[in-house]
Amino acid sequence: MDIAKLASTAQALVTPGKGILAADESSGTIKRRFDSINTESTDDKRRDYREMLFRTDGVDAFISGVILYDETIRQDAADGTPMVKVLSDRAIIPGIKVDKGTQPLAGSPNELVTEGLDGLAARLDEYVSLGAGFAKWRALFNVSEGTPSANCIEVNAHALARYAALCQQAGLVPIVEPEVFMEGGHSIETCYAATKATLLEVFAQLERQGVALEGMLLKPNMVVSASSASNRASAETVGAMTVDCFKRTIPAAMPGIVFLSGGQGDDEATANLNAINVEASRVGAPWTISYSFGRGLQAAPLKAWLGKVENVPAAQAAFHHRASLTSAAQQGKYSPDMEKQSARV
Ligand code: 13P
Repeated sequence: MDIAKLASTAQALVTPGKGILAADESSGTIKRRFDSINTESTDDKRRDYREMLFRTDGVDAFISGVILYDETIRQDAADGTPMVKVLSDRAIIPGIKVDKGTQPLAGSPNELVTEGLDGLAARLDEYVSLGAGFAKWRALFNVSEGTPSANCIEVNAHALARYAALCQQAGLVPIVEPEVFMEGGHSIETCYAATKATLLEVFAQLERQGVALEGMLLKPNMVVSASSASNRASAETVGAMTVDCFKRTIPAAMPGIVFLSGGQGDDEATANLNAINVEASRVGAPWTISYSFGRGLQAAPLKAWLGKVENVPAAQAAFHHRASLTSAAQQGKYSPDMEKQSARV
């Protein structure tokens, strides 16, 4: 295992001012996104949409890597260039989602377990040959009375560590994603407790299974109030509670934290990322804190595009603008006033 090479890829993904675009929506998820703009989800439309994002002029200043879905890593752009080459020509590292989604957890039907370990070693070798430099696996934890249960946390953390160890053996940087869901009415304190419990178990399993922390990245949720909570916490509180939770759970040897946006509005996710970075610098936190947003980066360009070729310049301008704001938040330099500056077409 070449730990130095894994560590240098992990560091490149969290270069200051840059983060990751999560464009790895499964077939069902991308269909839902396209339904929201009345666009049919065909192979060509998915290619056109993703190619539009990847070819946005200047966005490589803000994007270090892109997480792809299996379809996209095998796909060519409209002019026949492999999508992977479209990215690597701009020094953007291609990554790949390798989990196979969630199923109800046996014995606890309101909880989920992520599948995809069987045959994973061979799939990882193929993804390396297709040009991937990193991978992603997502575990999901529902928050309700009695959940996440200790069993759900343990089985998902065990699978995350199995996946991470297999990635490093294949030469891929694993992005380890334990997501505490923000759906529901729970408080930020409840989110804090669930996040703390899952991260403690995830890092215990990573240690037990011999994963080299310097050659991986963590993709957690922010510690936030649930989407329907009555009194949603401010960005400053999110910053303070998230950094406090991480100080108690995440070893300093792990180089970078790349947040998911998790269904927050894009402006909310950006303001929270900024507040977390401000707090992290204040306390001298040891990790680089960046982004791996799906909806947080794509909501604006998707809405501007509407599936129409004539909207490509406006959609690319919206994507560039959103990525520049998110990059500013990574550096603790974002303010909500910047939302008003118009996107450059
Ligand atoms: P969101 O930022 O939309 O939560 O997506 C990130 C992701 O990759 C989820 O697995």
